[in-house]
Formats: sequence, structure tokens, C-alpha cells
Amino acid sequence: MERENFHIEPGAPMFNKGYSIIIDTKGPYFVYGKPTLRQEFIVPNAEGEAWEYKTGITYKVDHEPMVLCRCGHSQTKPFCDGSHTQIDWDPTLSADRKPLLDNVEISEGEELQLLDNKTYCVHARFCMAKGTVWHLVEQSNRPEAQELTIRETFHCPSGRLKLRDKKKDEFLEPRLEPSLSLIEDPQKNCSGPIWVKGGIPMEDSECTPYEIRNRVTLCRCGNSHNKPYCDGSHMRTQFSDGQPGLTS
Ligand code: FES
Repeated sequence: MERENFHIEPGAPMFNKGYSIIIDTKGPYFVYGKPTLRQEFIVPNAEGEAWEYKTGITYKVDHEPMVLCRCGHSQTKPFCDGSHTQIDWDPTLSADRKPLLDNVEISEGEELQLLDNKTYCVHARFCMAKGTVWHLVEQSNRPEAQELTIRETFHCPSGRLKLRDKKKDEFLEPRLEPSLSLIEDPQKNCSGPIWVKGGIPMEDSECTPYEIRNRVTLCRCGNSHNKPYCDGSHMRTQFSDGQPGLTS
């Protein structure tokens, strides 16, 4: 992939040359560079609020490209088995290619600014804990509220939520190793998107690039109306990848 073609989200890490994802316009995700692929479970706190991730299986992937199911019908999920050619589904990559920050609502605190692009909500719910991140950011001059604001924003897998440090005039982003996680949501009894971390570049099979972002969530249930991104439809359809649950 040619670096010049890509727009990089402010605050995202530098272009990760060793990794890339090509999205077949009618089929699966082709993943290059052998990034780690693992399960991550959304785990609630004692109050029942989405609070942390716990790691499940790490898949052994020794071939390249790794081909991941996008239609949701493979019998060998998370990998593609060719089912997308046999079923009735809409593979259309309908998401616009606008930068993430083009369409944000802003909540202001004294020190932090929260930028919210609702298009990318995947219902991971970390933002709802402890009185919601939108209220917390307004109180982010208090250390405890600031810590929670950063924690909840950094746990948002899709990058819907971003933070800007107003005094330093810089975006805050978690440091994420380039890798892929399969989100599992036992509390809601469903499997979620593929969480692409760490600035892995993506383009479709016609070489049209997507903005490079630190946090991206890709649909793997086949039902999103904002493909390739997840739009939370997996929760409505109770998508399950049939993979083992958390053992401890
Ligand atoms: S995984 Fe398909 S909409 Fe979330």
C-alpha cells in the first residue's frame, strides 16, 4: 500500500507499514503482516457496568494473508470458509470515507474536550459507567473525574470517542500494539466486531483507502448498515461466532 494515499487520524500512531487489511468488496477481510488475533471479552464491574476487557483465546495464525469472515455465515468463524458466495447478504461498503473528526459533537471540560462521532457507536457501553463520560468530562478538572474520563474514552473500541488536552492542544490516544481482537459481549449474549488496533491501514479491493485510525471496529456479522464498520447491529441480531467463552 502506498502511504501517500492515506489520511491519518490526528493522534493516531504512524503508518504501520508491516500490516494491512484489504476488504474484498464482495467477500472477506484479507489481513497481512500476521498481527496477533485474540478474543477480548467485555466484563462488567460489581455495579453491572461495562468496565474492562479480559483476554480469551489467542489464535495461532501462521499463514498469510489471514482471511476473516465478514458475512457472519462461515462455519469456521472467525475465518472465512467461502460462505459469502452461497448466501444472500449485502456486502456493500457503504461507509463514507470522511475523517472521523469531520462529524463530531463536542463536550467541554476545563482541561479536556470530548469529541463524539456517533456514527461509530458499537454499544460497548464503557462510556456509560460512573455517571457517563459526557458528565465526567465536564468535571475533568477533578483528578478522579479526569482519570475516569480518560479510562472510559480509551476503552471505546471504535474510536467514536476521542479526547483533546486543551492546554497542550493535543489529542490523547491509548498506546495500542497493532493487533486484532474479536470482541465478545457475554453480558448482552452476543459477539461483537473485529477491533483493529494500532493504525493498521485498510483499503478495499479497488485500492480505495480508509482513514488510518488507532481504534477501528469492523463488522463481522454481515448486518451493519455502515460497512465495513460495525454499527452495533450484532446486538440486535444476537450474532454469535460460536467460539468458546471466558473460562476464568
Ligand atoms: S459486528 Fe456486524 S454490526 Fe457489529
